[in-house]
Amino acid sequence: MSQTKPVYASFKSIGAYVPEKILSNADLEKMVDTTDEWIVKRTGISERRIAAEDEYTSDMGVKAAELAIERSGISKDEIDLVLCATVTPDYFNMPSTACIISDKLGIKNVQAFDISAACSGFVYLLSVAKAFIESGMKKNVLVVGAEKFSSIVDYTDRSTCILFGDGAGAAMLCATDKKEEGFIDLHASADGSYADFLVTPAPGSINPVSQKVIDEGLNFVQMKGNETFKLAVKTLTKDVKEILAKNEINADDIPHFIPHQANYRIIKAVGDALKMREDQVVVTVGKYGNTSAASIPMAINDIWESGRLQTGELMLLDTFGGGLTWASALLPFAGKSI
Ligand code: UT7
Repeated sequence: MSQTKPVYASFKSIGAYVPEKILSNADLEKMVDTTDEWIVKRTGISERRIAAEDEYTSDMGVKAAELAIERSGISKDEIDLVLCATVTPDYFNMPSTACIISDKLGIKNVQAFDISAACSGFVYLLSVAKAFIESGMKKNVLVVGAEKFSSIVDYTDRSTCILFGDGAGAAMLCATDKKEEGFIDLHASADGSYADFLVTPAPGSINPVSQKVIDEGLNFVQMKGNETFKLAVKTLTKDVKEILAKNEINADDIPHFIPHQANYRIIKAVGDALKMREDQVVVTVGKYGNTSAASIPMAINDIWESGRLQTGELMLLDTFGGGLTWASALLPFAGKSI
């Protein structure tokens, strides 16, 4: 009887892209009734990046993907699946942004599709890539988290416009027979009863494009900020405690805790609840704001490019977003150090 060898999914490389234009707190002071002091104190954010008018989600995704592909050592024609997580796709209905990214990269005739899980999108993507690879269906999966969040932000709403930014991150996930290069664990979940905490009411089947949508600004993101904040701290902390306990790993032994970058106060509260040291917790929210599905891969790229992330080191990812959705993952970085 022939026995198939187990296959594991390894996180081989990372890449990211941010647009040139910086939107600073001083700029926002001129647009809405806010102050740099309030924004920094309540969110930790000093600036965020804004894509050019003719720079689309797919363009940013392609730039991040090109770096991830080059750094993985895998050639484009070995890629057999392209996945994109975004809530700001090039087109809201079709085609998917993953299809456009594949085309712009010159990756032909492979399966490509988007997933929608808001800020949890990247870790959700990892779960899909992992399942495809471990089932033997695919070998080399390109995953992209990309957002042009500025396209759904109302720049007269001070409670949201201070938070979000644009950017993209990408990674290559590849099949390996080395168990030590694979995921230790991944957990993803959702609760749609909190759907109204973070919502973009239009366009969609409930609110197709109409004069009402334009007049009422239903195409912009709406958030119950304070309620979302409290639930984020509770859920992120619980999720991380569970994944660590299940795998009998101490928070102390995690060199890189990479939480979703929504608000520094959320990151600090979760880090403190887990008794993490400052050097374990990755923080990029100050310079990029909340880039939704791009936030975690952009943060991984940051520590990789600065030489902090080395081959074989453990990463603990933890995310939370619209849906509501949340997810955590425990995995080694299987790529080359810089
Ligand atoms: O990525 C998905 C997950 N997203 C999140 O996790 C976001 C979670 N939420 C947050 O980050 C925070 O709730 C915010 C930063 C959005 C708001 O901070 P907060 O400490 O929760 O403030 P709040 O909403 O309770 O508002 C407190 C006050 C209000 O004024 P009053 O009613 O007390 O007079 C707001 O109107 O702060 C006011 N406020 C502002 N003041 C100056 C709200 N936004 C601003 C602003 N500048 N930009």
